[in-house]
Amino acid sequence: MLMRNFLSSRKSIREFKGKNISGKDMQKVQEIVSAVQNKVDGNLVQFTLIDEGKGFGKALEGKAGYAGVMIKAPAYIAMDIVDASPKGQFTAAYAMEEIITGLIEIGLGSCWISLTDVHAGGQEVIQGFNVHKAEYLLAFGYPMNTMGIGDTPYSSRMGVEDIVYKERLGNPMTVEELETLGLDDLFYYVRFAPSAHNEQPWRYVVNNGRVDMYMKDTGKNYWIEAGIAAYYLEQLAHTMSIPHRFVLEETSTEGEYKHIGSLQV
Ligand SMILES: Cc1cc2nc3c(=O)[nH]c(=O)nc-3n(C[C@H](O)[C@H](O)[C@H](O)COP(=O)(O)O)c2cc1C
Repeated sequence: MLMRNFLSSRKSIREFKGKNISGKDMQKVQEIVSAVQNKVDGNLVQFTLIDEGKGFGKALEGKAGYAGVMIKAPAYIAMDIVDASPKGQFTAAYAMEEIITGLIEIGLGSCWISLTDVHAGGQEVIQGFNVHKAEYLLAFGYPMNTMGIGDTPYSSRMGVEDIVYKERLGNPMTVEELETLGLDDLFYYVRFAPSAHNEQPWRYVVNNGRVDMYMKDTGKNYWIEAGIAAYYLEQLAHTMSIPHRFVLEETSTEGEYKHIGSLQV
């Protein structure tokens, strides 16, 4: 897959066509969710498909999303982070991005929804829909416009020079240096990873054939963003025939930045 193909339709979709997901597509969604769930340890994360989205979305108005602004969608996936350790959160978010990839492949758009932003009884509501608990939801459906053509642009992102450093945090790395290493495109695209409130807490240090990922400690849940960003980094690297997997290892803290792990490049 080309890098730009990985990203062409990978952005938050908040408006969906009014129609329900067809039975055939819902069957595929169930298969996607089950396949991902079977790969991850159920003691870390549990995904639940909510196929009757209308009542669910309505019941969560004022109780989920940024400041209680719930995204209306024909269906949702609830993410229950069973194990709240860094590994649990990281694994859950990484797995949710795998689900999103599956949804994109069958033409469905999606958006993450925080259940942690407001504390107004959201958990009680979801329990009424047979979900034990959830920290995040994924709203999904048929996007209003054909994805990637003439619809909502990506939210703004920081420049490569603001997030990528050489050998140590804070030491600038020029685009020319990244070009020499063949990593300029990788970092151009990795910036498009989604993050809650678009906070973009990730930073990268390129050092001797490896990329170390750091997260800015915003006091919030940066392990979720770490799992998402690691998925982007790894998948984009795969499009460049870099076969390695991101290795999660929290080793140090540098000021407000936490070391999360690394990828060999
Ligand atoms: C963990 C997480 C939680 C999010 N929660 C919400 C939310 O509650 N409501 C919302 O409208 N968008 C939510 N988003 C979407 C982000 O705002 C969006 O990804 C970011 O602004 C970047 O925009 P883009 O995906 O369109 O490029 C969330 C994203 C993440 C990764």
